[in-house]
Amino acid sequence: MLDICKLGEEVLREKCTKVTKFDDALRILLDAMYETLEEADGIGLAAPQIGVNQRFFIVSLPDGTQREFINPEITGTSVETNPYEEGCLSLPGVYHDVERPSKVIIKAQKANGEEFTLKASGLMARVIQHENDHLDGVLFIDHLNDRDREKVVHEYNKRQNRQRRGKRN
Ligand code: NI
Repeated sequence: MLDICKLGEEVLREKCTKVTKFDDALRILLDAMYETLEEADGIGLAAPQIGVNQRFFIVSLPDGTQREFINPEITGTSVETNPYEEGCLSLPGVYHDVERPSKVIIKAQKANGEEFTLKASGLMARVIQHENDHLDGVLFIDHLNDRDREKVVHEYNKRQNRQRRGKRN
């Protein structure tokens, strides 16, 4: 299982670079990410969250759908938006509603380099937008107003401190 980077780590705030090598190393990393995601009970994981500053992420939905997106680009979004309570494995334990387009069109490559286009709605559209943000150093809290963001970060820091104290005892 891979270590997941947490809020405050620089790699989460960097703009990632394009993947140029579609080799075994990428496949192995993707497989390790799926395992990590399953272990962490999450539905999406982006490369910077495991300390890799490159443009790719994976999605694994509760209905069993698994998909990887290499060098993704969101090429279309619906005018219609909806709120959804988001969380992030890089900020464990805190959640907040985020308003985003309900549907997206995304262009990306598979692990073998093959290009594809996907029209996504529902949870898939939500996770795609959240994970794609990670590739530009953007976290879900950045979509909140200042007051809500401060509340969420404060709650997160409180939880982290409690955990650290718990470990010492
Ligand atoms: Ni996240």
